[in-house]
Amino acid sequence: MRTTIADLAAMKRRGERIAMLTAYDAPSAMISEAGGAPVLLVGDSLGMVVYGFDSTLPVTLDMMLAHAAAVARTAKTALVVADLPFLTYATEEAAIASAGRLFAEAGVGAVKLEGGAAIAPIVERLTTLGMPVMGHLGYTPQSTHQIGVKVQGKAADDARRMIDDALALQAAGAFVVVLELVPAELAAEITRRLTIPTIGIGAGPDCDGQVQVWHDILGLYPASPRHAFRFEEGGSMLQAAVKAYVDSVKGGVFPGAPQSAKMDPAELAKALRQDA
Ligand code: KIV
Repeated sequence: MRTTIADLAAMKRRGERIAMLTAYDAPSAMISEAGGAPVLLVGDSLGMVVYGFDSTLPVTLDMMLAHAAAVARTAKTALVVADLPFLTYATEEAAIASAGRLFAEAGVGAVKLEGGAAIAPIVERLTTLGMPVMGHLGYTPQSTHQIGVKVQGKAADDARRMIDDALALQAAGAFVVVLELVPAELAAEITRRLTIPTIGIGAGPDCDGQVQVWHDILGLYPASPRHAFRFEEGGSMLQAAVKAYVDSVKGGVFPGAPQSAKMDPAELAKALRQDA
């Protein structure tokens, strides 16, 4: 059975933590789902971790469609959520068109948008049309030029605004709010005030769930952000495997008999006679 937005609400009511993880392609979807992640986020973080850009801003809807479709085709039980990329939801009509493509063409079960009360009318319109929306507050990477990469909501006015934004998203019909780079105390307060789940990243331990970037928890890059924990040194592990492969090819050890096909020597001899 695939995770639904109702399941996530029930998890919050039961006090059961939600472990969301990003996925960008078939292998990351397959492995994350097998590892038990109930929600897979096709994040526009793919701009950095997959495409090598230095922000999420160059990510296009076409890129998101391709990656979201790969994840949605692969995931059998997880709820697949895709980010609406930069400037694809600047108006209600644009949001409907962009989100509509992610649902109809890529097969996602929800979309994520960055912003608070200002985008509540868009959230309301999408949810009214049957497209579940996940909100995203705190550090919102699509506004990086405006707000800088830093913890958001440390000052009283900013904290108050974030609480109001979270309530506005909930009132507009959002089913989850992601809190990124938010002081733990503020994230805990927002989590207490909302009936929908909060999912934190760099927002302390008291959110209803956590989200992490696949490459960060697996240690696929030499450096990870402060809020991430490397549950595996995947980069070194994979590099060792690649080195073993390169060494085996160089040493004439790979491929061996198990990786090779045989043919009837008579057939080969017949083929070679055709040279004469
Ligand atoms: O794009 C992304 O991966 C995200 C998460 C970090 C929340 O938005």
